[in-house]
Amino acid sequence: MAARVLITRRMPEVAAEILQEAGLSVELLPPREEGSPAALRERVRGCTALLATLRERIDRDVLEAAGPALRVVANCAVGFDNIDVPACTARGVRVTNTPDVLTDATADLAWALVLAAARRVVEGDQLVRSGRWAGWEPLQLLGLELTGATLGVIGAGRIGAAVARRSLGFRMRVFYCDVRPNPQLEAEVGAQQCELERLLRASDVVSLHVPLTMQNVHLIGAAQLAQMKPTAVLVNTSRGPVIDEAALVDALRTGRIAAAGLDVYENEPRLAPGLAELPNVVLLPHLGSATTETRRRMAAMAAENVVAVLAGRPPPNPVNLRQGLDVESARFAGA
Ligand code: GLV
Repeated sequence: MAARVLITRRMPEVAAEILQEAGLSVELLPPREEGSPAALRERVRGCTALLATLRERIDRDVLEAAGPALRVVANCAVGFDNIDVPACTARGVRVTNTPDVLTDATADLAWALVLAAARRVVEGDQLVRSGRWAGWEPLQLLGLELTGATLGVIGAGRIGAAVARRSLGFRMRVFYCDVRPNPQLEAEVGAQQCELERLLRASDVVSLHVPLTMQNVHLIGAAQLAQMKPTAVLVNTSRGPVIDEAALVDALRTGRIAAAGLDVYENEPRLAPGLAELPNVVLLPHLGSATTETRRRMAAMAAENVVAVLAGRPPPNPVNLRQGLDVESARFAGA
């Protein structure tokens, strides 16, 4: 019998095509069952592979329901905090992700948020649509001058570095904060590594690009927001729980910082009370990788990882079962 692969959500068809070409039997969770943990546990029974998205929580219950046939969980995302990786490892189940292919799309979106929040694009759009706009005024909707400003990148991996590289066009000074130095980034954009507090105090724009680990839950809370400039803009395209959202609402409401641009939220798709009412925050529905080309590449990559594992080859994008790669996500460590 052909190995069974369950795809948890509608996605570019290339995923199913690659799996079928490899002789695998593809099952799609029916659209009305997408997002239902009970349906996932029911449908995953006896599957050999699971091609999941960041919306599905792949925990012990799902692994238990799948049973011993399950060999790989391929996430169609670069982040894998939705997967209990140690539980997969303990069962010998491979976990894979989709790095690189979404770096540029996500960095572009981070810049869309920087520009929109710094230059008050959404407020301007709303003013024009409202019919209340009475014409150009010297003091209307003044924002932050980006050219020559200072950018602080928190997490200087692939996406953080791509965001920093894009700042060259704005002749920005760049600070970054990471557990590891990034000499290439230093050479390319003259970025300087520093401690978080220094970065927060010095930056006009702060952009977050860290994974969601235990250490990074509420990395930016009330104390860190208080260290930022009152004119600063904070952008998050990483994972919501990296920011204490209630503290951010407070900082935006009281003018502790000038503006924010968010693509991710602490409890997606819910927002912290008061966030949606604030004029000085731009809110996007987790669109970081949402270009046609990138989503296609992600789907293809996830499928190729499944095919490799089921063919007995090492997957191109392993997350676990390789020394040093086993990361415990905050979502499964009680945070
Ligand atoms: C998107 O958030 C991803 O992790 O791919």
